[in-house]
Amino acid sequence: MTAEGDLPQYRLVAIPGDGVGPDVVAAAKRVMAAAGARFGFGVEWHDIIVGGAGIDAYGMPIRPEDLAACAVSDAVLLGAVGGPKWDDPTAAVRPEQALFAMRGGLGLFANLRPVSVHPALVPASPLRPELLDGVDMLIVRELTGGLYFGERSEAAGPAGARAAHDVLPYSEPEIARVARLAFELARGRRKRLTSVDKANVLATSRLWRTVVHEIAVEYPDVALDDRLVDACAMQIVRSPASFDVLVTENLFGDILSDEASVLAGSLGMLPSASVGSRRTAHGLHGLYEPIHGSAPDIAGQDLANPIGTILSVAMLLRWSLGRADAADAVELAVSAALDAGYRTGDIWPRSAAAAESCTSVGTVAMADAIVARIGAGAGSAAAPPDAGTPTGEPPVDDLDVGTTVATAQLLGLL
Ligand code: IPM
Ligand code: MG
Repeated sequence: MTAEGDLPQYRLVAIPGDGVGPDVVAAAKRVMAAAGARFGFGVEWHDIIVGGAGIDAYGMPIRPEDLAACAVSDAVLLGAVGGPKWDDPTAAVRPEQALFAMRGGLGLFANLRPVSVHPALVPASPLRPELLDGVDMLIVRELTGGLYFGERSEAAGPAGARAAHDVLPYSEPEIARVARLAFELARGRRKRLTSVDKANVLATSRLWRTVVHEIAVEYPDVALDDRLVDACAMQIVRSPASFDVLVTENLFGDILSDEASVLAGSLGMLPSASVGSRRTAHGLHGLYEPIHGSAPDIAGQDLANPIGTILSVAMLLRWSLGRADAADAVELAVSAALDAGYRTGDIWPRSAAAAESCTSVGTVAMADAIVARIGAGAGSAAAPPDAGTPTGEPPVDDLDVGTTVATAQLLGLL
């Protein structure tokens, strides 16, 4: 129990994971420490071994007790999981199963992927500068339904021929809850929501469209339009600034968010938040991770861009800890480091002229540049939020760890 008057202490789980995961999580922890020093809070990290590292250490991608540790934390920060070492398609366990166990087990049904373009990174994008002007979109990807969680089989098939199937299920409540969140988010932004589906082919998409339109009645102030996923993919590169919030099902969201990352200059720039409806004493419980993968070819070489993970820390501060002050400071520090010309390899300008004012840095030096810009600024004496909240006790109001693990087991995820 923290004594009255002590600094708030947040309990976070860190999952360095595989490949560049440990590199970028180490950088992000330093940023969190700098934010805590400036804004007057502490962080107690609990590291768990998950993904390919979990398979190597324990023979399974995530242990039930580690999933339970995620459930009782204030939030989870993840680097990346996966790599060629565990890629055998016939293997019984795969690193990515840990992601699905966390998403399903922790009820994280919405994945938020904001995409904006820092003006200093326009020269790093393969797209024409005029297309990037004003890009500021938020992709809301449904995360616990659809093909990822449907029944699949690789075994059955007519005699002599191999066959496989993946089932794409969606129910009305699954669509309604993510749609409602997307409308709420659009309401707080430019009040435009694009719902992406393939209603000209898929029954689930027709249900998706019907449910989204029924919910739209509750949000008369938000302009809703429907887009077929193929046309939407084209428009994301043709007129990206025309989008505000997009909401879509699991697989479409996976694909469109990688596509949209090109706008920001690199996959390495983009953060994400996975949230559900469970609240802790501080905010929404959630899992935060960069959208890039484990990039094993550059792992451990101080080459990875840590900004996607550092901006994920900003989202964690804002959504799970209610620390908008610190979140703003982290985002401003990233922006200032980019303005000062610091660039990892993935965001190096494409033209020699633009490169002249830039400094090439690795993971650690980029984190140094960002940490230095968070500093011990004027906010160091800021009052803690939720003053008086006891942080030494489980900070949850509707937590049932047994249910978390049982849900994951039921879904065949553990
Ligand atoms: C993502 C990733 C994962 C996904 C992979 C690693 C299973 O691509 O988070 O976007 O497809 O959901
Ligand atoms: Mg993906």
